[in-house]
Amino acid sequence: MNKADQIKKFSQQAAMYERNRRAYTLGHWRRRLLREARRNVLEAAVGAGANFPFYDRELVDNVTTVDFSPEMLRKAKQAAREFGIPATFLESDMDRLSLAPDSFDTIVSTLSLCSYEDPLAVLNQFNRWCRKDGNILLMEHGLSSNFLLACAQKALDPLIYRIEGCHHNRDMMKIVDRSDLVLVKSEHYWAGCIHLIWAKPSKTQ
Ligand SMILES: C[S@@+](CC[C@H](N)C(=O)[O-])C[C@H]1O[C@@H](n2cnc3c(N)ncnc32)[C@H](O)[C@@H]1O
Repeated sequence: MNKADQIKKFSQQAAMYERNRRAYTLGHWRRRLLREARRNVLEAAVGAGANFPFYDRELVDNVTTVDFSPEMLRKAKQAAREFGIPATFLESDMDRLSLAPDSFDTIVSTLSLCSYEDPLAVLNQFNRWCRKDGNILLMEHGLSSNFLLACAQKALDPLIYRIEGCHHNRDMMKIVDRSDLVLVKSEHYWAGCIHLIWAKPSKTQ
């Protein structure tokens, strides 16, 4: 799928993502992860702002959000107003985004590595953009640790990608392990399909 079609695909799903935000879908895990978010935050592929209800406004100064879908950003802007989150919005492709090194105290990515062309390269960018003492917080879905489910995910991936614009056949922990990030802790749910990941940048100075 080319980028324009993928953007269109996600824009068509923006109302559904907004409904999911209102229903606090996966809220328990989002809360666990995002209580660690501090100061100057980058949120990659923000969608309709499903994480906004879970940021601690006492601890977070600003959230710089990125998404390539204008419709998702429109919903995210409404959510930022609703939840009183000081946020800025960049309409950009994460696969092409360039930001200054050491710009953020926290980098958040939830359910987004599944859609990038090169998720490993994006994680390595997180490593560059995060300050030495910062945190990288991920909640990602991917290939199950259950053999039969993983076979089904691999078989159905081409169809699901055409419908949703995201892949279900990526081994997320392998991608994180291969990246420059330093894994601090991870938790796995739903037959190993969902991963909560706490990581740090690997910086020597
Ligand atoms: C599955 S949704 C997740 C949204 C949100 N992070 C959440 O947790 O609900 C994936 C989001 O990533 C965005 N996205 C996918 N690929 C992208 C890319 N290459 N650059 C920027 N945004 C992208 C989509 O527009 C969509 O909003």
